[in-house]
Amino acid sequence: MESIWRKECEFEKREQLTKDIKVEVAIIGAGMAGILTAYLLKEKGINSIILEANEIASGQTQNTTAKITSQHGVTYDKLITHFGKEKALFYAAANEQAIGMYESIIQSKQISCHFEKLPSYLYTLTDVEKIQKEVDAARSLAIDAEFTTYTTLPFEVKGAARFHNQAMFHPLEFLQEVAKDLTIYEHTMVRDVKDQIITTDHGRVKANHIVVACHYPFINVPGYYFARMHQERSYVLCINNTPKLDGMYKDESDEGYSFRNYEDMILLGGGGHRTGENPYGGKYEKLRRAAKEFYPEFKEVCYWSAQDCKTIDSVPYIGAFSASTPNMYVATGFKKWGMTHSMVSAMILSDMIAGVKNSYEELYTPQRFMVTASVKSLLDESKHAATGILLEKFKLPDTKLSEVKIGQGAVIDHDGEKIGVYKDPDGKVYAVSTKCTHLGCQLDFNPDELSWDCPCHGSRFDYTGKLINNPALENIEHA
Ligand SMILES: Cc1cc2nc3c(=O)[nH]c(=O)nc-3n(C[C@H](O)[C@H](O)[C@H](O)COP(=O)(O)OP(=O)(O)OC[C@H]3O[C@@H](n4cnc5c(N)ncnc54)[C@H](O)[C@@H]3O)c2cc1C
Ligand code: FES
Repeated sequence: MESIWRKECEFEKREQLTKDIKVEVAIIGAGMAGILTAYLLKEKGINSIILEANEIASGQTQNTTAKITSQHGVTYDKLITHFGKEKALFYAAANEQAIGMYESIIQSKQISCHFEKLPSYLYTLTDVEKIQKEVDAARSLAIDAEFTTYTTLPFEVKGAARFHNQAMFHPLEFLQEVAKDLTIYEHTMVRDVKDQIITTDHGRVKANHIVVACHYPFINVPGYYFARMHQERSYVLCINNTPKLDGMYKDESDEGYSFRNYEDMILLGGGGHRTGENPYGGKYEKLRRAAKEFYPEFKEVCYWSAQDCKTIDSVPYIGAFSASTPNMYVATGFKKWGMTHSMVSAMILSDMIAGVKNSYEELYTPQRFMVTASVKSLLDESKHAATGILLEKFKLPDTKLSEVKIGQGAVIDHDGEKIGVYKDPDGKVYAVSTKCTHLGCQLDFNPDELSWDCPCHGSRFDYTGKLINNPALENIEHA
């Protein structure tokens, strides 16, 4: 299940950190956010190192659909309502500026990465008023937007918000060039951060500034990101024998689909759900059925999935990690719009480290609490976490091992103890603890990925128990 980007791109291998070092800036995570932060710091004459648990761009960045756009679903109407016009203006300006920054880096370094300028459309099959309001809101914030009913989609829409001068690219071809002159340690998982000292398995780093760009922060206290962020997954089918679209598309409804071309292919996205809540699977099949309906002659090239963090008020957390950790910063909560937001993170954090005031700081500060935008989501977060923890402690499942079919996974009752099992196509049983190693919630099997996923904060483990996605740092135990 490799993405089309990963299939086509190999990065130069980097060394592991094997000794203690002192640096000005250490960045945790070599995804789009971490690498761009290091790049902009370098442009300002500030050296940094990146510590990466696996390999460059091996996290969510390798599985993005890589639309570079300020159109983030229905956003601007809500932002004006909950944050006010001034902050909404900053959101629009920051993300529009990010598109321009990509273009200027790509031009100045002459990076060949399939960068293309084109419009982005947010379409609706049902709610014209919602789209019209989004267009009005976007226009009031100086975004070049208009309402249209014309699209190049294979079905009729009721209406669409068209944003002009947006872009898309091949994210790994871009990062290959941008990462070239940066110091990156691969296979160097950070285990702990205390008093400006970062501990990895084979060396410690003393840093004057530390940037946590590891997708979901694994440091629980201070910061308390686990109480105010969850993860959402979605799925991508890459197909060819399909037409050229005039732009990138996304349905305003969570049930709908996303489209973009890459060369002669279309990346068809959809099937979103909270991580850890996909008990019946079938997400790729749903995409295949949709592809058949939209493009009957299509040929499947590959498929993959990814997940992203969502904050309680839907605006990313970019800035000081917590009030009690000076010189420590975070970039997270991009809600599936991490291309522009990685660039916004890099702009804000490189300015903060350089001691320059950035006008977007106040909007994105993780220390904010916007009551109207946050309270309902905060209650939802607490409810999900409480349910995950309670299930782990009290409820015994009804399923027995003999009832689990070949190729399936389930939580079973084994002599009064709850364990997770997966039976591979040869009937071999893999049994693991269902207790998440982050904060102990109960894991659930994801039949589409054959993984154990956590509904609380989105950690994931393969069926053998090996950690795939953080905030957990450890594998789950074999049962
Ligand atoms: C299906 C899907 C499609 C998307 N499409 C788009 C799109 O079209 N446009 C858009 O703008 N956004 C999109 N996004 C969102 C975007 O892909 C992400 O927001 C972005 O890639 C996140 O980048 P990142 O650098 O924060 O995280 P990552 O790329 O996950 O990087 C974090 C890195 O930190 C490392 N790490 C983790 N823990 C540690 C540790 N303890 N020590 C050291 N290293 C560690 C990881 O290995 C990883 O390499 C999409 C998201 C999804 C789910
Ligand atoms: S990810 Fe936090 S408890 Fe599982």
